[in-house]
Amino acid sequence: MVKQIAFPDKFWWGAASSGPQSEGDFNKAHQNVMDYWYQESPTEFFNQVGPKLASDFFEKYRDDLRLMKQIGFNSFRTSIQWSRLIKDLETGEPDLNAIDYYNGLIDAAKKNGIELVLNLHHFDLPVELLQKYGGWESKKVVELFVKYAQTALELFGDKVNYWTTFNEPMVIPEAGYLYGFHYPKYVGKGKEAMQVIYNINLASARVIQLYKQMKLKGQIGIILNLTPAYPRSNSLEDLAASEIVDALFNRSFLDPAVKGSFPKNLVELLEKDGVLWQGTKEELAIIQANTVDFLGVNYYHPKRVKAPGKEAKYSAWMPDKYFEEWQMPNCRMNVYRGWEIYPKAVYDIAMNVKKNYGNIPWFISENGMGVEGEERFIDEDGRIQDDYRINFYKEHLAWLAKAIDEGSNCFGYHTWTAFDCWSWNNAYKNRYGLIAVDLENQKRTIKKSGYWYKKVSDHNGFTYDLDYEIK
Ligand code: BG6
Repeated sequence: MVKQIAFPDKFWWGAASSGPQSEGDFNKAHQNVMDYWYQESPTEFFNQVGPKLASDFFEKYRDDLRLMKQIGFNSFRTSIQWSRLIKDLETGEPDLNAIDYYNGLIDAAKKNGIELVLNLHHFDLPVELLQKYGGWESKKVVELFVKYAQTALELFGDKVNYWTTFNEPMVIPEAGYLYGFHYPKYVGKGKEAMQVIYNINLASARVIQLYKQMKLKGQIGIILNLTPAYPRSNSLEDLAASEIVDALFNRSFLDPAVKGSFPKNLVELLEKDGVLWQGTKEELAIIQANTVDFLGVNYYHPKRVKAPGKEAKYSAWMPDKYFEEWQMPNCRMNVYRGWEIYPKAVYDIAMNVKKNYGNIPWFISENGMGVEGEERFIDEDGRIQDDYRINFYKEHLAWLAKAIDEGSNCFGYHTWTAFDCWSWNNAYKNRYGLIAVDLENQKRTIKKSGYWYKKVSDHNGFTYDLDYEIK
């Protein structure tokens, strides 16, 4: 099937990264939870590679932004590190070195004509706030986050047009409190996870409120990982399970961010089970009044959901009593990551946002394919021939273009990621970049997908020539 795929004028082409995953952890005032986790348990990280140097973006950002320009970027997201910017976590007083660094980064992006999106939190809570206050379970931490955000916005708010409060906030309760794959690695703390969801929503709304009070000229949004929950069958039990998964894993952040309220079915369920978060009327009014200007959607894979089996796996309350995930037989998989590849979900997300969320302006803020052992694909010129990645992007973009043709208000597409970066305990196992990073010497080499991306950005579209049908 050969077809021209076109995108609207001024469409964003670029990628996302984050401070902790790209910069290296030197010169920082504090450790974040990931730095600390590595310090305590390096063997839990792939090949024991930690955040010490990462991709050395702290030193190389000027060159890296030039390279991004070279592969066609007009926009780029990264994050400010709370643990870098703030010297005194209680007062929000900034660190002078960090101010220089962020000013340099903002200038370098401008110089290259790249619209910078600055995010305020990418899983990287300063570990002292976990140890002292209990992290995101505590409203004290919400207060301190607002202080940090105020410092960031006072320093850089008028120089950067696009801000986001959190990246994938659902990962914090999911990975840290429910299933234990990120620090603090709790398993089975369902009730605490619900409080974390509430507190982070409150923190996000408080920062949006502050941004509006400061009358800054840009826009503020949030980045959510939306994983459509497809039921195994149309049985009432499977449908009920998928509705609960959608309410908990997608709508618990999407609804407050865009509509200012929590999903009714989720609140009722948590109330019935006696695990509803502690909140006040005043806080709910803040959430109600301070919704986002735009939405970023990270999409990697769908969730396949069915009614739960009979066996209780956890002693304390866990949402899993209402659902089970399952893998569809014969589905397409990214075997390196263990994630299903299902590009049509991009279209489903777009239509959901159009129909149920007022067609708010949004963009794909992360989408990508991590592959292990990419050295296998290096050609005689030293370039990685990552056609699998190009095909992955083509399919997702084709579904996105179809959604835009049907009225979706999508204004951009960011890949994960620009150059290979460190990914928490997966470290450098799976490479996602359009630009390869050699960990021996930090040398950057544009992959085949990087050259392809440049053409897509130049033409604001591409020729779709794959067998998979988009209809
Ligand atoms: C996204 C995160 O969910 O997935 C990134 O925002 C992360 O921080 C990316 O690096 C890929 O994750 P992984 O574990 O496959 O390397």
